Amino acid sequence: MLQPVIIALDFPSKEEVNTFLDSFRDERLFVKVGMELFYQEGPDLIRMLKEEGHAIFLDLKLHDIPTTVYKAMQGLSKLGVDLVNVHAMGGIDMMRRAVEGLEEGAIHQRPKCIAVTQLTSTTSVMINDELSIHGSVEESVNQLAINAERAGLDGVVCSPLEVPQIRKHCRSSFLTVTPGIRFVKDDVNDQKRVTTPGEAHRLGSDFIVVGRSITHASDPFKTYQSITEEWRSTYERTSR
Ligand code: C5P
Repeated sequence: MLQPVIIALDFPSKEEVNTFLDSFRDERLFVKVGMELFYQEGPDLIRMLKEEGHAIFLDLKLHDIPTTVYKAMQGLSKLGVDLVNVHAMGGIDMMRRAVEGLEEGAIHQRPKCIAVTQLTSTTSVMINDELSIHGSVEESVNQLAINAERAGLDGVVCSPLEVPQIRKHCRSSFLTVTPGIRFVKDDVNDQKRVTTPGEAHRLGSDFIVVGRSITHASDPFKTYQSITEEWRSTYERTSR
């Protein structure tokens, strides 16, 4: 099924979010709220975005003892968001408790829960030398994705380049949500491994998350439409 492009609202305040969303007129979007914005504006901002009819990915990457994550997820579930996440490094029990908290707090449908495996800023040298984890980042990503599936999560956040290997290890309906998307002409900023929307689809991504390519564009709405068009046309070509 073709999923909407998720826009990362990486802004420091509600005012900047409103100015940005003004250019989208009445379009219903799928937006991502991360730590930068949530720690400033809190649940009120989520309520505002929901009232405006947007779907929400609350990207807070929870990682704590299982009981704390369970209780935090009960509260986040009550906000009625659509998608939340945890760090798979918190372990299988923590991830299971996250899903339980979401189920118990849900007013209607349980928000989907996905896991961050290894952050896209992580390297093999870092995990070997700093964290004493043996093997490569790819091996660690595979194991963490398997753990997330075993814990009952709905999918993972990962680089589009990691999707094919995750598909080999997890069920086909296991969601892959992928940031690191750029048009060929765009600045890659701090992302290490980027792909275009079309390439992300060919690699098997279910959802793409796009931040600066849209938020820093001179015409964000037009850029969003172009990215959506590339995403949709690749989908239509490959599903025929
Ligand atoms: O601006 P850009 O398109 O690079 O934004 C990507 C978004 O996805 C940011 O909000 C970033 O925090 C998030 N993200 C990421 N890599 C991950 C997990 C989340 O870039 N592994």
